[in-house]
Amino acid sequence: MLSKKMEEILNLQVGKEAYASALYLAMASWAENKGMEGVSEWFYAQTEEERLHMLKFLRYVNERGGHGVVPLVDQPPVAFKDVKTVFEAALEHEQMVTRSINEIVALALEEKDFTTHHWLQWFVEEQLEEESSVQRIIDKLNLLGEHNLYLFDRDIMGMRGAGAEGEA
Ligand code: FEO
Repeated sequence: MLSKKMEEILNLQVGKEAYASALYLAMASWAENKGMEGVSEWFYAQTEEERLHMLKFLRYVNERGGHGVVPLVDQPPVAFKDVKTVFEAALEHEQMVTRSINEIVALALEEKDFTTHHWLQWFVEEQLEEESSVQRIIDKLNLLGEHNLYLFDRDIMGMRGAGAEGEA
């Protein structure tokens, strides 16, 4: 059985995951409108993942004798300055979610709720992955900003294949 405090903080997390899902859906829609198919597909996949995170939290609260509450979600932004701003905002959001999950982990330890502590480890891993995948995309965008190094980088990859064939 969850403590009242744990139930409340987990339900707050339900809301944060729901907002992340709405935010990434807004980003997907913005990118699709700009004709950026790759970026929009990336965010359409992310919005689904966040919905799954929301469900995981909600159902865990119910499983442990609490009541998972469906939150009211704020309206996410409609427009963004450019694609780099979008990914930077996504990274900032993920960093906020990581801090939030760390706080729940800390509460689980404080309450000696080792079941919740164990259950949360999946999210600890997931946050590490999400932050690093967004960071990798920002790194690529930074290369693109500097003398089209990103495209150059891709060309180099093709050239390596051709070189290997030439040597055979
Ligand atoms: Fe559900 Fe991207 O954190």
